[in-house]
Amino acid sequence: MHHKVLIAEDESRMREVITMLLSDLPLDFVEARDGKEAIDLFDNDTFSLVVTDIKLPKVNGMEILQHVKMMDSELPVIVITAYGSIENAVEAIHLGAFDYVTKPFKEDRLRDCVEKALRISRLTSEVRYLRKEIERKYNFGNIIGNSPQICDVLRQAGRVAGTNTTVLVTGESGTGKELLSKALHFNSARAAGPFLPVNCAAIPAPLLESELFGYEEGAFTGAVRRQKGKLEQASGGTLFMDEIGDMAVDVQAKLLRVLESHSFQRLGGSTPINTDVRLIAATNQNLEKLVNKKLFREDLYYRINVFPLHIPPLRDRQEDIGPLANAFIRDFSTAFGRKMPKLSDKALSLLVAHPWKGNIRELKNVIERALILCKGDQITTRHLILQTSNNLRFNEMDMEKMVNVMINGGGFDIVDLETRFVRRAMHLAKNNVSKAARLLGLTRPTLRYRLEKYNIDISE
Ligand SMILES: Nc1ncnc2c1ncn2[C@@H]1O[C@H](COP(=O)(O)OP(=O)(O)OP(=O)(O)O)[C@@H](O)[C@H]1O
Ligand SMILES: [Mg+2]
Repeated sequence: MHHKVLIAEDESRMREVITMLLSDLPLDFVEARDGKEAIDLFDNDTFSLVVTDIKLPKVNGMEILQHVKMMDSELPVIVITAYGSIENAVEAIHLGAFDYVTKPFKEDRLRDCVEKALRISRLTSEVRYLRKEIERKYNFGNIIGNSPQICDVLRQAGRVAGTNTTVLVTGESGTGKELLSKALHFNSARAAGPFLPVNCAAIPAPLLESELFGYEEGAFTGAVRRQKGKLEQASGGTLFMDEIGDMAVDVQAKLLRVLESHSFQRLGGSTPINTDVRLIAATNQNLEKLVNKKLFREDLYYRINVFPLHIPPLRDRQEDIGPLANAFIRDFSTAFGRKMPKLSDKALSLLVAHPWKGNIRELKNVIERALILCKGDQITTRHLILQTSNNLRFNEMDMEKMVNVMINGGGFDIVDLETRFVRRAMHLAKNNVSKAARLLGLTRPTLRYRLEKYNIDISE
């Protein structure tokens, strides 16, 4: 990448020297012969760096420096001072100059100085970009969905975000519990502090303890030096305890004590440590059920269930499926650097009808695969590879209910019913027998046999 550098210097010979000294750097030079010209050029263009002489006609270098700093406080400015005028250099640094170089130039001094400034300028813009990226990603506005259910969750989340209240986020796997938790953090006064996740399911109990509380040197074999735990590291920020339903019961007891006393001790330590963390817990399990089975402490349950947020499964908010699918199509198209294909109506209906046991994560994966398979400008049902197996679609209860309704409602024609199922599946699968068979949980030959038996025309 080429950087644009503004050089403000009145002597043409000096301008030549400067550009020559910097000639092997990837720079584009814009030259100004006096201070006024420099400011005009600066105001109408974007630069990575300004190099200015202090003594200039019309507007001097010090004023240029002040102007630049006012317009963009992070843009580096290098000033050139005459040999011996150190007070100028000191003043320039005071006003925010990146560095100063005295003339006549010594060896590589100017070049080194410019290189360093550009490196820092690049880091600064990277940090700016990442910060924006985080804002973009974790702003509530970027949790996609317009269903009344998700709007309700976001409204409640908006209310609790700015507080220090413990939040319990529940929902099936892939519903966006972590995304919502991050949004809570980034919309709180703790946004500048850390968001530290601890996965209680993935770490065995003794390790989870040392992970959370930290330890003193010699607390156990292998504890060669003091280590701070996540509770301390997250101070000033948010500790995200993921899969809290899987936490071992004895760790639960210790966590409860921390929540009650607001202090704890490192393993093997005796000094009480205070920490200022906000706790957000998440689980895809039913904690009440776990409490009943004595797998989760009731007192801890009440401690963390201060403000529950439940994210409903995707199948219960079908109107979010279209907007989510389109957002993922857009994201993956950008990531793959290609034109954004459209989702056909039939493809959308297929997505809407799918049970999404893996919820939004599953939808995201299906869309990613569809984009890899789809070469043209339309995603059709052919590009959607949906996982279906009988137990995914209807749970036992729903199935039982359906059968009861049908039988109690005066009975029904089972052949008619089966024909309807087969027709529907063939329609969704665009007459692709293998795919329709998958939708119905049948083998391909069995479906072929049914098609013939019921005389279903597949050439429609
Ligand atoms: N409403 C949403 N809008 C946009 N993206 C979403 C939404 N909900 C979830 N996602 C995306 O879906 C994926 C799964 O979300 P996340 O990891 O937060 O789920 P989870 O509930 O923590 O799942 P698990 O229980 O499996 O850990 C992520 O890539 C996330 O960015
Ligand atoms: Mg998660």
